[in-house]
Amino acid sequence: MAQFENTLYRFTDKKSSYKGIQQVKETINVNDIGKNEVLLKIKAVALNYRDFAIAAGSYPVGIKDNLIPGSDATAEIIQVGSAVSDLEVGDRVITNFDPENLYGQSKNLKTALGAAVDGVLSQYKVVPSYAVNKLPKDSHLTDEEAACLVCTGVTSWNALYGTADKFIAGQTVLMLGTGGVSITSLILAKAAGAVTIITSSSDEKLKYVKEKWGVDHTINYNTNPDWEQQVLDLTHGEGVDFVIENGGSGTIMKSMAATKVGGQVASIGFLGHTKEMPDIMSLVLLRSIRLRGIAVGSKQLAEELIRFVHAKKLRMPVEQTFGFSTDQVYEAYAKIESQTHIGKLVIKVD
Ligand SMILES: NC(=O)c1ccc[n+]([C@@H]2O[C@H](COP(=O)([O-])OP(=O)(O)OC[C@H]3O[C@@H](n4cnc5c(N)ncnc54)[C@H](OP(=O)(O)O)[C@@H]3O)[C@@H](O)[C@H]2O)c1
Repeated sequence: MAQFENTLYRFTDKKSSYKGIQQVKETINVNDIGKNEVLLKIKAVALNYRDFAIAAGSYPVGIKDNLIPGSDATAEIIQVGSAVSDLEVGDRVITNFDPENLYGQSKNLKTALGAAVDGVLSQYKVVPSYAVNKLPKDSHLTDEEAACLVCTGVTSWNALYGTADKFIAGQTVLMLGTGGVSITSLILAKAAGAVTIITSSSDEKLKYVKEKWGVDHTINYNTNPDWEQQVLDLTHGEGVDFVIENGGSGTIMKSMAATKVGGQVASIGFLGHTKEMPDIMSLVLLRSIRLRGIAVGSKQLAEELIRFVHAKKLRMPVEQTFGFSTDQVYEAYAKIESQTHIGKLVIKVD
């Protein structure tokens, strides 16, 4: 079988909507696979808010023409180049969000999958061997769960462990909202001994998160607009050690007001973006807060995360799985747009 047909999705139509994504068929020639490359059979693709923002034209990084969307895949290796020594046919792997970010602090995201370079919403993909992270042979994770490690998993891990001043057991972690980043951070922080607090727009979502994922404290930010005060009350007036900040300019002041003197705020999301940035410098200075921008993370962080999740046999928060047809792909994007989900949405690839 020197060549075969690959079904995949591309933005063939610039409608500033996920409806600009169309299914196409292209040929893969296995003789073209380089000696340092591997051929992946993709099994599952986890979606992120980023994928919706890219489709809607609101993502703050340049997007390639005719893009293959998606960054987070679980795959099986079905062919290896002649010089590849650390991977073999049959290995289960996950993609690295930014294949060029191997070690250390953040890179500029220009080489991250599914934005400025082609992504993974495809049956097959050829990548350099260093662009994937191997799962343990006896991994307990389903393909759908493992795909969730790539972006939201590594982002959460980076927020807690990506600097010298790492999370330690007994500290308090605040998560904003009940999406992928928040629920994954909750799972990781709880397993490592954190006291956890989560906010949401909905009591129903909070009830579910308490029952399913065992969060310690919940706050509805719609019915409690002064939610930062509730966080202070829950922490005896001190504030939390870590904030998983998903709202951006819309929530940063309250997040910082809810942070302990000397605590850390991981600036991750832009869900509550406002045009006018509040004056946060007084809080940074007066409360010695460390405000840290996060851009997912490196292959090294992904390897640490895989090891921790495997050792603790943690489950990843897949709320719903969709098929690979165009209708199902649109349904998955529509569900992200509705913001009714809790945790992660995943497309299963045939
Ligand atoms: N910097 C990075 O490395 C990085 C990595 C991953 C994601 N992100 C960004 O982080 C954010 C979250 O990503 P995600 O994939 O977890 O999104 P998601 O799964 O779509 O989750 C979004 C959830 O956040 C909550 N939310 C919405 N607006 C909010 C607001 N103004 N304040 C507080 N909560 C709000 C809602 O939950 P409730 O209804 O429960 O409130 C919503 O369902 C996005 O902006 C994404 O682009 C950044």
